[in-house]
Amino acid sequence: MALRTPPVFAPPHSLPQLPDAALRVLTPADFPAWVRLRDEVLAGLVHPDMYVREADEAVFFAQHSLPRGHAIGVFLGAELVAYAMLGVPEPGEAGHLGAVAGLAPDAQARVAHLASCMVRAGWRGRQLQALLLKLRCALAQAYDRPLCLAMVSLHNAASCHNLLAHGMWIAWTGEIDGLQRHVLQIDLLGHARWDLGGSRLIAADDFAQLRAAAADGYCGIADAVDGPRRMLRYARRLPDAAAPGHAAVPR
Ligand SMILES: CC(C)(COP(=O)(O)OP(=O)(O)OC[C@H]1O[C@@H](n2cnc3c(N)ncnc32)[C@H](O)[C@@H]1OP(=O)(O)O)[C@@H](O)C(=O)NCCC(=O)NCCS
Repeated sequence: MALRTPPVFAPPHSLPQLPDAALRVLTPADFPAWVRLRDEVLAGLVHPDMYVREADEAVFFAQHSLPRGHAIGVFLGAELVAYAMLGVPEPGEAGHLGAVAGLAPDAQARVAHLASCMVRAGWRGRQLQALLLKLRCALAQAYDRPLCLAMVSLHNAASCHNLLAHGMWIAWTGEIDGLQRHVLQIDLLGHARWDLGGSRLIAADDFAQLRAAAADGYCGIADAVDGPRRMLRYARRLPDAAAPGHAAVPR
């Protein structure tokens, strides 16, 4: 799929949580500022596994620019304070998260990647990741890519929390390029329902249990804190509530 034009975020360009901010799609001219933001954020990570930099910054930027996707930037004046990327991968393409998560080939053609998102430390706590998730999902739906997938580190509690709070669920857990990762999913045309009676809590750092639960057909649907431990609630998916024109089957 080749995207032709960038979306324009209409005036007044303001966000309630950051009234002076403007949103626009990044262009090649923004590449140096995007790299600087990443350098700063990555240098400040609490744990290095939270986000491992892609092998080639220029290739990664191009993979999420026209015609293959978009990177949305949040600007305060000329300063880039946050960004998030959307990709529309082709089935069979290296790194396709639908293939990683075991989606059927026809479903893989309907996948959008909710890729990298970073907020500079001074601007966190304003729900910018949540806003950028909503925007990217709206774009994915407009591009007829309603199966949105995102990869996150087991160490990245804040990002995992925000993705789950957005209605995504952990569909797969395993190793990608030697790193322990979740793949989260949402079907924007579906209405996922869960067998909450059979749900269970698993420690968020117990890779073996998390992987086994996903392999056993359980999905991670919420996070919770139990004393000092962060936990994830796992449940089996029920058939979607019937929606006109949409198959009521999981995945
Ligand atoms: C992840 C990131 C984008 C989130 O930025 P943000 O939009 O400012 O996020 P916020 O600070 O508003 O939201 C944090 C949420 O996580 C929650 N959170 C924070 N630490 C948490 C923890 N240890 N466990 C669970 N939840 C946590 C907060 O309570 C808040 O949830 P709430 O809105 O329900 O109250 C930002 O922290 C960042 O850039 N991190 C470094 C880069 C990165 O990890 N990117 C994501 C890669 S997948």
